[in-house]
This record gives sequence, structure tokens and C-alpha cells, in this order.
Amino acid sequence: MRISGWLFRASNLNKMIDFYSQFNPSPLSIKHFVDFGRQACEKKSYLFLRQELPVRLANIMKEIHLLPDNLLSMPSVVLVNNWYFMSFDEILQFEKLDAQPPTLDRFCDALIKIRNRHTDVVQTMAQGVMELKDSYKIDAQTEHSIQYFLDRFYMSRISIRMLINQHTLMFGNELDGRSDRISHIGCIDPNCHLVSVVQDAYENASFLCDRYYLASPDLHIIEMNKDDDTDSIRINYVPSHLYHMLFELFKNSMRAVMEHHKDSFPPIEVSVVKGLEDICIKISDRGGGIPRKETEFLFHYMYSTAPQPPQSPEPHTVPLAGYGYGLPISRLYARYFHGELSLLSCDGLGTDAIIYMKALSAEANEMLPIFNKTSSKAYRTSVPTGDWSSHGPTLRTMSTR
Ligand SMILES: Nc1ncnc2c1ncn2[C@@H]1O[C@H](COP(=O)(O)OP(=O)(O)OP(=O)(O)O)[C@@H](O)[C@H]1O
Ligand SMILES: [Mg+2]
Repeated sequence: MRISGWLFRASNLNKMIDFYSQFNPSPLSIKHFVDFGRQACEKKSYLFLRQELPVRLANIMKEIHLLPDNLLSMPSVVLVNNWYFMSFDEILQFEKLDAQPPTLDRFCDALIKIRNRHTDVVQTMAQGVMELKDSYKIDAQTEHSIQYFLDRFYMSRISIRMLINQHTLMFGNELDGRSDRISHIGCIDPNCHLVSVVQDAYENASFLCDRYYLASPDLHIIEMNKDDDTDSIRINYVPSHLYHMLFELFKNSMRAVMEHHKDSFPPIEVSVVKGLEDICIKISDRGGGIPRKETEFLFHYMYSTAPQPPQSPEPHTVPLAGYGYGLPISRLYARYFHGELSLLSCDGLGTDAIIYMKALSAEANEMLPIFNKTSSKAYRTSVPTGDWSSHGPTLRTMSTR
């Protein structure tokens, strides 16, 4: 394409981003995903996605452009930005195409291509922020904007992948011959057995822990089902999301336990509880806890007390900790369906991490970032200044006589 043609296309795309960003994304509940999946109409899904995906992409692309200029010019951020442009452009190709079989097949292929293109977005964006921190001194306002943006950007990505996965798993041939095709609705398991996911995440985390420390703490599970004492807890959920959270929490607990004790390692206690409103999974460790002054940083991207892992680790040297992404991303997965992830620590003893999920799938609605004036303001307003007495010098500490 000649330069004039390319410029015309880019300005046209920018207009389309402006257009689609005026619409709010439509949040769906787990119940909605499941009910829709049971009827599984590819045509309807196509008609919904060819509108909803550009809306979600455009909403977050507008926010990317509110980032500080020096971050926007970092090579990794330029790369991520280009991926979003390409994907937005590719989805728009379907804007006016009828829902006929050849188009439906091409749409499915386009979604898979987009999903693959965006596989490394989290690492690449993280790399962009590191590039910025290596080149500039970051002030409090920039730090605040980056944390605010990353939460929204990664949440948007989780939601877009959810929509893409639902469509491609239900209507593509990725699951052909696999039992998930029958037992799952896309990536949702309507009978997700929580204890099995806990055990799975524990096994894989303890495998890593064994490699680093040549031992790992045991696991004790308690299960309590308010609905039915005799039955194990099963819910409508996305097992891969739950697995992600549990795996991160287990890695953190295991590292803490192994660093805090010398020879005998107290087990990690997990309670899986179904109440009337919430489902809670509590992971309690005796890993020495976290000093209270550090707790405000736990969910900051890149906050870690572990040594920084090598830049491009080999597959067999996956680190147990060190990126500072484990907690913030896990909390996004919990919040995505209106749940929560909280940490409560007792310095000197240990930490409780609790994952909350909605017990009713109709209440488990997607939580999505919306681009509007308020969100734009968050990138400009400064972080709160101190209007309470803090650790600064007071009259008494200044005159000690
Ligand atoms: N159970 C725990 N006990 C003690 N400290 C913890 C616990 N969980 C988290 N932390 C502290 O919180 C920090 C941030 O945790 P987070 O999982 O986000 O990052 P990380 O474990 O350092 O790296 P990674 O991104 O690889 O998980 C940890 O470095 C650790 O200092
Ligand atoms: Mg971690």
C-alpha cells in the first residue's frame, strides 16, 4: 500500500475507534454465557461479537492514548498498540458481511488469529513499563496513572479473550475429540468441582517449589457446603481463571513458608466454603506474614520482594516469584465476575488469602472498564496529597529537648 493509502486507512481507523468508543461495553453474566451456550447459535454469536468486540477494543484503545507520552513511545508499547490496531481493523472487515457459512468460518479463523496475536500482551506491556522505568525517573502521578491503566487494560483483555474463547471453542474445531466439548460450555464448566481445581493448582505449584527448595509444604483441605453437607461444591465457573488465581496464591504461600522455616514446614490450609451469597476459598499459610506497611503495595504491578528473574527464562526454569504480577492479575480474575481477592496478614505468623466468587451465576456479571470523561480524568488528576498527619517531622519530634 502506498503511503497516502496507508494514511487514509489509519485516519479512517481512528474515526472508527472514536465511533465505537462512544458505546459502553455490554457486560454478560456467567448465567447468560451458559444459557446462550446451551442454544449455541453461531449466527447470533457472530452478530453480537462483530459489534461488541470493536466496542471493547475501542474503549481500551482510547485509554492507551491517554498514557504519558514517554510511555507511549516505548518500543514494547508501540508494538502492543499496533496489535490492537491490526485486530480492530480485522474485526471491522466483518462489519457489513452477512452471517453466511463461509463468512462464519472466516470470522472464527480471524478470532483465533487475533487471540494468538495477543498472547504475549501482558509480558510485552510489562516490558514497556520496565523500559520506561529504565529510561526515566517516574513521578507519583505517572506511577498512579500506570497502575490505574494496567488494571483496566488487563481486565479488558481478560474480557475480550473470554468472548473470543466462547465463540471459537463452541463453533470452531479446537475441541474436536476432547471431552471438554461435551462437559464444558466454551471455557465455562457448569459443574466446576472446586476442590479438584485447588488440588491441581497445588500440585503444579508444589512441583515448582520442590525444584527451588527441594521440599514443599503439604496441603490440608476443609470443605463446607451450606446447601448440602453431603455433596462436594460444584459451581458454574471458568476453571482456568480459578486455576490461575489459586496457582499464584499457592506459589506465594509456598515461597513464604519455605523462606520462613528451616526444616519442618507447616502445611497450607485451604477452606472451600459455599454460603448463600458467596463462595470463598481461603488459603492460610504460616509463612511469617507481611509487615503492615507493605500491604498497600501488594497489588501494585511490579511490586515484589523476590529477586528479579532472568529476562527470557527457558521453559524449564519458570520462576516461583519475582515479576510482581501474580497478585494484581489474580485479583482482576476474581473481580472480572464481580468477586474479590483479599489478603490479610499477621506479621510474624502468616497470611490468609481469600478468593470470593458469586454463588449465583446470574449475579456473576462481567466487570468492564468504560472509557468516559471520568476515566480520562483519572489520568490527569494528581494522587491525593497528605491531609492527615503521617511520618513527617512534627513539632515534638523536631524539638527533642
Ligand atoms: N502469602 C504470602 N506471604 C508472605 N508474603 C507474600 C505472600 N503473598 C504475597 N507476598 C508478598 O507480596 C509480593 C507480591 O506478590 P506477587 O505474587 O504479586 O509477586 P511475586 O510473587 O513477587 O512475583 P510473581 O509475579 O512471579 O508472582 C511478594 O513478592 C511477597 O513479598
Ligand atoms: Mg507471586
